Amino acid sequence: QRPRIGVVGSSNVDVVTYVERMPAWGETIAAPRFEMNFGGKGANQAVAAAKLGADVVMVSKVGDDALGANVLANFAALGVDARHVGRVADQSTGTATILVNPAGENFILIVKGANGDLTPADVEAAAADLATCDLILLQLEVPLETVTAALEFGRRRGVKTVLNPAPAVTTLDRAMVRLASFVAPNETELAILTGLPVGSEDEVARAAQRLLADGVETVIVTLGARGALVASPAGLRRVPPAKVEAVDTTGAGDAFLGAFARYYAGRVGLDAALEKATRYAADSVTKRGAQKSYATEAEFERLVRRD
Ligand code: RIB
Ligand code: NA
Repeated sequence: QRPRIGVVGSSNVDVVTYVERMPAWGETIAAPRFEMNFGGKGANQAVAAAKLGADVVMVSKVGDDALGANVLANFAALGVDARHVGRVADQSTGTATILVNPAGENFILIVKGANGDLTPADVEAAAADLATCDLILLQLEVPLETVTAALEFGRRRGVKTVLNPAPAVTTLDRAMVRLASFVAPNETELAILTGLPVGSEDEVARAAQRLLADGVETVIVTLGARGALVASPAGLRRVPPAKVEAVDTTGAGDAFLGAFARYYAGRVGLDAALEKATRYAADSVTKRGAQKSYATEAEFERLVRRD
C-alpha cells in the first residue's frame, strides 16, 4: 500500500529572477535569467511526496485567473489529488516574487491571494479524504485558524500531523503548536516559537527540547547546509548533511518535509526517513526552482545508489 499524505496549505506561482546582485532603490540593472515556476510551501511539499510515489491529497485555494488554471493542470500532471483545491472568484492566485543570487540564496515577496481564503470549512469539506491519510502536512501560508482546524482534526481523528511553522510568524499560539505530532522549524522559526536564542548548536538543542516539554512528540529543526537536529523522547540526534553545490535553495525545506512525510508514512522508521529527507533536500538545491528541482522516486533511488 502506498503512503498517503494530506496537505492543507498554499499554492503559489513563483516568479523568479536570477540576479548577479541586488538593485538599489531607484536603480535599474539587467539580470541574466527569468523563470515562472510552480511553488508555494503547501504545493511544494505535496509535489515532493507525490514525486516520491505517495498518494497525495491537496487542500488549497487558487484564484480564477490563468495562474490558477496552470496550478490545477500541474497537480493533475503530477498525480496530486486536487479535488479539494478550490477556485476563488475575483481573486488572484498566490504569487511569490523571488530573487536568487549566485550563491543560491533568495529574497521572497509573497502575495497570498487565494491562499488567504482557505478556511476551516475547507478542512471539514475534505474530512473524509484527510481521515484516511497517514500524515497531514501543514505550513503557515494559509490563515492560522485553518491550520489550527487541521491540527485539531488530526488530534480528533488520530491522524499524525507535521507543522512547518514557515514563514515565521510572531503570533503563533503555543497551545496550537502543541497540537502537532511533529513540529519542523528552521532556526529562525525555532527562535520565534520559543523566544530562546539559537546562536549555537547547544542553544538550538535547548530550544527544541523546550518544545518537547510543551507536549510536541518530535521536533525536527532543519539547519540548511548543516543538516538537521531532531529532539524526541528517545533523545537528541544530529542528521548530517550531504555536501552539495547550491544553485537555488528555494523550496529545499519543502523538499525535506515532503520526502520526510512520504518515507515516514512508508514506515522506514524515523531515522531513515530523516536521512532520506536530508539527502532529497540537498539534491533539490543543486537545481533551479522548487518543485521542478525535486527528483522522482526512480531518480532519487539512482542518486542514493551512487552515493
Ligand atoms: O518554501 C518555498 C516557497 O515559499 C516558494 O515556492 C514560494 O512560493 C514561497 O511561498
Ligand atoms: Na532547487
